[in-house]
Amino acid sequence: MADQYQYVKVFAPASVANVSCGFDVMGFAVDHPGDIIVARRTEEPGIQITKVSGENGVLPTSVNKNTAGVAARALLKQLDIDAGIALEIHKKMPLGSGLGSSAASSVGAVVAVNQLLGSPFAANELLTFAAEGERVACGTPHLDNVAPSLFGGFVFIRSSEPQDVIELDCPKPLFATVVHPQIEIRTEDTRKILRRDISLQKAVTQWGNVGGLVAGLLKGDYELISRSMQDVIIEPIRSVLIPGFDEVKKAALDAGALGSGISGSGPSIFALSRDKETATAIGEAMQHAFEEIGLDNEVYISPINKEGPRILEEA
Ligand code: HSE
Repeated sequence: MADQYQYVKVFAPASVANVSCGFDVMGFAVDHPGDIIVARRTEEPGIQITKVSGENGVLPTSVNKNTAGVAARALLKQLDIDAGIALEIHKKMPLGSGLGSSAASSVGAVVAVNQLLGSPFAANELLTFAAEGERVACGTPHLDNVAPSLFGGFVFIRSSEPQDVIELDCPKPLFATVVHPQIEIRTEDTRKILRRDISLQKAVTQWGNVGGLVAGLLKGDYELISRSMQDVIIEPIRSVLIPGFDEVKKAALDAGALGSGISGSGPSIFALSRDKETATAIGEAMQHAFEEIGLDNEVYISPINKEGPRILEEA
């Protein structure tokens, strides 16, 4: 077994789930923002959450209710040892933003605890534990935020239960622009409003686009990526919850985006582009469109994060 530690500090990245057409089956990680999780040994057996910062006191410190706590406890349970571990969660991104905030905390927690304990699990084995955190956060253990946050890059989820996750190569360069308007939307609520049945015609369009997006990423074909980033099923329903959605998306496309859509369950809106210059221009255009309707917002520009979580300190 690898070295064990008394203290580990981990950065886990935010992620953009769905990527327009791939509801619950596609996601990618960004370089920033992300959460920082600290794990340290304690005398008292089990998991405790000793500190949560950066989220205005909203997150529970009860292990059973906190995504990071649930994920870390699932890992410890599998090992069947009575180690004592205290977690600190430093939120570096807004909650309910569509940036995979709960997933980043779950991933940071399992990576930090695994490292603390001498890496008993391989990265792909950590996915199951991180998914338990997601189940607590929004009612389903969907993997399209936890998997990209854990593995980095673009990820395709062929199946969540049983887990069948494929890491996808993507063209270089590829940049993401994500704009977060200052409103909060709960994933759980936006899942409830979705239709349970869809027409065959829409299904055919959607799976054509999902296949096209995967092929476009693997072939490094920007035009195919662009053509495929269309969502005829989820976006028409959820976008009404985001003030200015149509204008902001149009601003992104007019500024040169390959495609644009709701980041996860929103309210953030993302766009993909070929280079940093375009990604920056897109960010300015999207920001301006939100400002036109009086909505404060924050812009994040980042290459696709191929690395996933990073160990920042260990001792
Ligand atoms: N696929 C999930 C959803 C992602 O759209 O509900 C939530 O961030």
